[in-house]
Amino acid sequence: MTSLETIQQSIKDEMEQFNALFTSSLSTGNGMLKTALDYIIQRRGKQMRPMLVMLAAKSCGKVNLKCMHAACALELLHTASLVHDDVVDESSMRRGRKSLNAYLSNQAAVLVGDFLLSKALEHAVMTRSQRAVKVVAQLGQTLAQGELEQLDNLDSEEITEAAYYDIIRKKTASLFSACAELGALLSGGDKGDIARFKGLGTLAGICFQLRDDILDYIADDKDGNGALGKPVGQDMREGKLTLPVIHLAHSRPELRDTILSIRKGRATDGQIADIVRMVIEGDGIVYAEKTMDDFCNMTQGLLEGIRVKEMLIPLKEYISFVAGRKW
Ligand code: IPE
Ligand code: IPE
Ligand code: MG
Ligand code: MG
Ligand code: MG
Repeated sequence: MTSLETIQQSIKDEMEQFNALFTSSLSTGNGMLKTALDYIIQRRGKQMRPMLVMLAAKSCGKVNLKCMHAACALELLHTASLVHDDVVDESSMRRGRKSLNAYLSNQAAVLVGDFLLSKALEHAVMTRSQRAVKVVAQLGQTLAQGELEQLDNLDSEEITEAAYYDIIRKKTASLFSACAELGALLSGGDKGDIARFKGLGTLAGICFQLRDDILDYIADDKDGNGALGKPVGQDMREGKLTLPVIHLAHSRPELRDTILSIRKGRATDGQIADIVRMVIEGDGIVYAEKTMDDFCNMTQGLLEGIRVKEMLIPLKEYISFVAGRKW
């Protein structure tokens, strides 16, 4: 059985219930809104975030309706962030087909993203937990801050790992952390459980973004597109320097100016292709993979504290799936 199948089997009924609620939540509206929501519901993505809510909840207590609403809130917030992200990144592909902005328009995508965000808050309220509402409301701010810092970083003359980690903690790890935290909280976990899952979610989220950034370098054999149904090499075209190329900039100082010109959008396609090749032929990818494995290994200590022992294997499989089965 693959990692994903092991995870899915352990929370099968819970994910079915989640999907029913998620579908009904998006079965609304008319005109362009309906067209957009129907389009979104057709391709659901991997559902890493609701899966994490369920895994955390099942590891701490009973999965209840509050957990379902939290999972819906967080998957909707994630979906809103993707819809807006593709506008910001001027990306025309998502989940192996046209992004919503390419399918409809930038204007429609911005407004549909706003709609999804508000729907997310409605589900947060339905948890009847003030703390859950606060987590979701603050999360929306953190995600936006992460994206803004990434934008700000395009003007920076410095290439640092610290700035990279700060951004990925905010734009991605915060969401995974909130999923694990709310799963633990709403299923009745104690203080220790909630803190453990919050930490576990943060580590899973850092690994997830590191893997995403590595996969940006890897083309799919089938159609030459990215392995994730997103275009390959997109990050550098956006001027975004991720860990593999940050490592190259540090290990080959003579390339620093060219790499900075990529960030400023001044590099030619040929220069970008050369730098991508050097990252792949050098140890940029290996370095990023090793770093990701180190973060994965940090979850082991947290996993040891899980009380519901039968959830240990699905949780480990979740981490190994996130990291591309490297651990
Ligand atoms: C994409 O997330 C955004 C990142 C944090 C890299 P996913 O890869 O989980 O997106 P879907 O929901 O499965 O499409
Ligand atoms: C991921 O950013 C975090 C989000 C806010 C969506 P990316 O820009 O790397 O996401 P992808 O690669 O387009 O999914
Ligand atoms: Mg993007
Ligand atoms: Mg982006
Ligand atoms: Mg990416």
